[in-house]
Parts: sequence; structure tokens; C-alpha cells
Amino acid sequence: ATTPAELSKAVTELLEATGKDRPALGLVPTMGALHSGHAALAQAARADNDVVVASIFVNPLQFDDPADLARYPRTLDADLDLLGQAGVDLVFAPSEATMYPGGLPLVRVSSGGLGTRFEGASRPGHFDGVLTVVAKLFHCVQPAVPAEFRAYFGQKDAQQVALIRRMAADLNFPVQIYPVPIVRAADGLAESSRNVFLSEADRRSALVLSRALGRLQENASSRRPLDLPSAAALVSATPGVELDYFEVVDPLTLEPVPAGVQDVLSGPALALVAARVGGIRLIDNAELHG
Ligand code: PAJ
Repeated sequence: ATTPAELSKAVTELLEATGKDRPALGLVPTMGALHSGHAALAQAARADNDVVVASIFVNPLQFDDPADLARYPRTLDADLDLLGQAGVDLVFAPSEATMYPGGLPLVRVSSGGLGTRFEGASRPGHFDGVLTVVAKLFHCVQPAVPAEFRAYFGQKDAQQVALIRRMAADLNFPVQIYPVPIVRAADGLAESSRNVFLSEADRRSALVLSRALGRLQENASSRRPLDLPSAAALVSATPGVELDYFEVVDPLTLEPVPAGVQDVLSGPALALVAARVGGIRLIDNAELHG
């Protein structure tokens, strides 16, 4: 489907064909250039739901850098294959003119203070753009017949998940948010559509991110002090890697928790890291269990 009207009709027909009073509908929003991380989302949605819809839309509203938008990989045919293999029933792939018929929208969803930290600090307006398009996608997919509506997001983008949860709760969206664990390549690098831009040497350097997170996880699980400064130093000392932020935060509010050389974790926390490697911005995170 390429328009909201086509989508709505197709979703309704698929839900009715289940013969159930209240079938479950799963949505997997993406920007395409799909990889095994996206496939995991589609598979999780397939396992839980009667009908699965994926969307592919490179959302201009969430790119603050026009060059980043212009070079964002677009691989529609391969994406449709991957989604078909994962058992997705329907793909919504609207054009920019369909999503934003009057140009970029006047009225937008605000991500508040949480949207200006971490990823939001170096990408002004990014999360307002994400929340606005996700709100639109929820409305476009929202069926006209009774259904249990669920949406799937990767824990890779932990701040995005936290903000979408808050949007759904704060604005009473009739949808349940399901986070899906990070999918990593065999070498430990978190899968990302941007990894294709890394040279072989950059890719090796980038592995320091998952290694530093692993060190924090070990410290947390063995009840040693977290010692975030030395994990951050490990990243900063890697040639070609420019650390942006490295923080330990509350998993729901993303408020910082103490993580110094004397701080032993007392509950669950999340370590968030972002760095530029060979000019490519990478993010990663890990759950810590104290
Ligand atoms: P995109 O970057 O295409 O990612 C789509 C979904 O796949 C997101 O929920 C993201 O967290 C998840 N994902 C990406 N890499 C992953 C990995 N290695 N493991 C697990 N999940 C992974 O995120 C967006 O698009 C956009 O902001 C969107 C939500 C579609 C709104 O435009």
C-alpha cells in the first residue's frame, strides 16, 4: 500500500479474514535499508500477531542534516524480499508527498526535555520528527475494526523507545509498545543501516563500543563499582573513534545514575554510548543488572 486509504482498506480486510472478534495487529515502522535487526522486529511481530504490517518511509522530518538524508541508503526491492521472508502481510511505503502533502507539517509532537539529551543534543529536532511521523503512522495503520494494536521498536534506539512509550502514555495512543533486543553482528557490532559506510579499519575500531559496554555489564553483574570513566577512556583512546557521550541512566526515565569508581549499581540501569567512527555516527547501549 502507498496511501493511507489503501492501507486502511487492506488492514481491515486482513483483520476480517482472521474471523476473530479481536485479532492482534502488529506494526513494524522502518526507514528501509533493512538488515537482520529489522528482521528480528518483523519476526517478533509475526510470532505475536494475526496480522503484521511494516512501514518503509525515510522521514525527512527527523534528519537535521540534509546530506545525511540524501545519502541514506534506499533498497526497496531487497527490503520487500526481507519483509516477505519474515512473514509480514502488508507493507506501507508512502511517498513524501503522501505523508506530507502540504509540505512539512505545521503541528508536530514535542519530545520535551528528554528529546534534547543524548541523541537529541547533537541532532536538534530529531526526536520531534520521529514522534511526529510515528504518530502519523499509528493513525494511518489504526484499524477501523476492533483489534489489539501493537508496535515494535528496537532497543538499539533506546532513547527512541523511551520517548515513543512516553508519547503513547502521555497522549493516550491505543497501542502497546514492544521493545525488541539489539541484534549484533558476529563481531559484536550492533547492526545498523549506517554500518555499510564504515571502512574495514573503522569497523574494527567501532568494536570498542560493544567491548566497553560489556565491561560495564561485567562490573554490574559482579557487583563491582561501575567505573564508567575507565570504560569511556577505553573508547576515547581508540584511534579514529571520537566519543560523543557515555552515560549510565535509569532505563525508563533516562535520568543519569551514579556510575563512578565507587558506585556499585543497586538496580537495573542502561548504559548509553555514541561516537563518531570515520565520520559515521554510531550508537549502542546495554542493560546493566546490579
Ligand atoms: P530505522 O532506523 O529504519 O529502524 C527501524 C527499527 O529497527 C527501529 O525500531 C530500530 O530501533 C530497529 N533496529 C535497527 N537496528 C536494530 C538492531 N541492530 N537491533 C534491533 N533493532 C534494530 O528507527 C527508525 O528507523 C525511525 O526512527 C522510525 C521509528 C521508523 C521513524 O521514522
